[in-house]
Amino acid sequence: MTEPTPLATPRTVALIVAAGSGTRMGGVPKQYRMIGGRSVLAHAIDRLMVHPAVASVQVVIGAGQADLYRHAVGDRALPPPVTGGDTRRASVLAGLTAIGEADRVLIHDAARPFVPPTVIDRLLAALARSPGAVPALAVADSLARGGESLGDAVPREGVVRVQTPQAFHLDAIVAAHRAWPQDREATDDAQVLRAHGGGVAIVTGDPLLDKLTYAGDFDAAERGMERRMISRSGMGFDVHAFCPGDHLWLGGLRIEHDRGLAGHSDADVALHAIVDALLGAIGDGDIGSHFPPSDPRWRGAASDRFVRYARDRVIARRGVIDHIDCTIICETPKVGPHRAAIRTLVAAMLQVREEAVSIKATTTERLGFTGRGEGMAAQAIATVRLPPDQ
Ligand code: CTP
Ligand code: MG
Repeated sequence: MTEPTPLATPRTVALIVAAGSGTRMGGVPKQYRMIGGRSVLAHAIDRLMVHPAVASVQVVIGAGQADLYRHAVGDRALPPPVTGGDTRRASVLAGLTAIGEADRVLIHDAARPFVPPTVIDRLLAALARSPGAVPALAVADSLARGGESLGDAVPREGVVRVQTPQAFHLDAIVAAHRAWPQDREATDDAQVLRAHGGGVAIVTGDPLLDKLTYAGDFDAAERGMERRMISRSGMGFDVHAFCPGDHLWLGGLRIEHDRGLAGHSDADVALHAIVDALLGAIGDGDIGSHFPPSDPRWRGAASDRFVRYARDRVIARRGVIDHIDCTIICETPKVGPHRAAIRTLVAAMLQVREEAVSIKATTTERLGFTGRGEGMAAQAIATVRLPPDQ
């Protein structure tokens, strides 16, 4: 008996329309503005791109928006953007024409940055029974006609708020868009498909998908993003042995001492512990993996550059450094007189307020290698906040 041939997995591409000018919000077109250190468009791209069913993401931009686009997406691996038209419908059609080989398409507004993966799952599942599917939510507020003064109530029963992404069999939506009269506008792609006789299933949408339309929506999205940031902690530990010398480096401060610290770089135990704590909080290896001791470039290097580097790794992940707590362990030198200066230096390296840095010191009651004065150690804990998708 021969095995049944498995059905080929349908190829799904996402089409993001980002060619609008955001007149109701004003200023820079909203899809190129930043939320939580990332452009609105990049949020939408990243959430679609990471979904396992999405093979590629095609973006449609407005004429003259190429520079804004490049700045908004950075070095993300995407096909070149297509130029859209004067209306959303024209922009969608331009995008559909550029997609190439695919079975299914998710058409999405760039102005809806937060795409939950569960909504994509529901939409794609619904395509098994229908050529189109949309996410929608019930209307909670009462509805009425309005103008200068309040008009008649509009029954809420059976009314839904329709969101994007909207999912379609590619051939069906392309045919429907081609057949749509040029002189008429469409509210969305689902209506274009319906006008061409295609059925559209409804799946449960998500308030996170609400469109950014007015300036106030932006502030709310920024606050919501901040609320959803997740807190991570990382720990760091470092030891250096004393050696002959007349000074040592501690927390970025040069301290005169009757011995120095041996190490490949400047042997600043406090800064090394802080670097490892920061890298630990973002799960990004340790100081040795980024600055191998075998590399002659780091011989005698001032460790503040390692701290700045770790800070930038956190920023690149769109993270925020909330707090650093560092304990320096030694019998000598006395750390107390230098604590305030070290705190100021570390806060400056991390570009955080001094209140976000704590520098402490302890002896080990003459026990162990630090107690015997053979070397120094430091421990640090870093607390950072990262965007919810990390
Ligand atoms: N869009 C588009 N091409 C157009 C108009 C809109 O690609 N000619 C896109 C927008 O970039 C947005 C989505 O369609 O991602 C939904 O449109 P809307 O919220 O109306 O955005 P804008 O048209 O930019 O805003 P406004 O109507 O306030 O000018
Ligand atoms: Mg518009």
